[in-house]
Amino acid sequence: MQVSLIPVATAVNPAALHGTTAVVFDVLRATSTIVTALASGYRRVYPVADAGIALALANERSFVLAGERRGEKIAGFPHGNSPLEFIGGPDTAYHMSEISKGPSFNNNVWKTSDDLVLTTTNGTKAIRRAQSAHKVLTGSLLNARAVAQAALREGLDINLVCAGTAGRFSLEDTLGAGFVLAEIMRQLSQATSEQHTASINMDDLAITAYGLARFYHNDPLSGLFAGRHGQKLLRLGLEEDLHWCAQLNRFDIAPVFTGKYITVCSAAYAC
Ligand code: MLT
Repeated sequence: MQVSLIPVATAVNPAALHGTTAVVFDVLRATSTIVTALASGYRRVYPVADAGIALALANERSFVLAGERRGEKIAGFPHGNSPLEFIGGPDTAYHMSEISKGPSFNNNVWKTSDDLVLTTTNGTKAIRRAQSAHKVLTGSLLNARAVAQAALREGLDINLVCAGTAGRFSLEDTLGAGFVLAEIMRQLSQATSEQHTASINMDDLAITAYGLARFYHNDPLSGLFAGRHGQKLLRLGLEEDLHWCAQLNRFDIAPVFTGKYITVCSAAYAC
């Protein structure tokens, strides 16, 4: 089994993903937000690249709407891209119906949909760029073990797709990929021979990510503080988001991008 790492989403070669499992990382914060929302009761997250399209989709289907650009909430959107906004699940969210009432939302929010439309600067684009893969999983520190298990279960070569920021390397995304790799190695070492006969062959970027995760093994939060985007979020007063995104294996879900939306597949909800 070949495990490769793509350092920024703009470097994705769609043809190279064919027949592989892609795990997409935007640890600060899109994939962490998506995992948190799905673990908190949302049924689907629609990753949308364009803000106007996101607004139209949410309006048309009365979905919860969330959007971020350059780390901040898109003006006029009810939600930004902080995972903390979605911890309470869809019952505590503002819905599109609130938008029509103008900028001052009333407190009478009601559940009109369990679906969330999310558009972010890099992460949602990265997820859509990976859709030529056989399976696209959403990875973060929050669900590293679950997504490692899901990727191994597919039995295909693995591409760890790091979103990056504006086409530049982001430490936290490769750190997230490194923690998933560490979980893959741990599960392989524990597996009996008939479960995982495959050994893995990592490319140099994957080996680097693995080393990064070992360096920050006891303190992933300091890894999130170290990167440029983490520093920007701190300047924006969003330190709590970094603490949330740094939690290792808080959720046991491995969300799948179907090409339209991201959801958690199960016996009850095959996808
Ligand atoms: C991104 O998509 O670039 C990030 O998620 C931005 C952010 O939420 O800070």
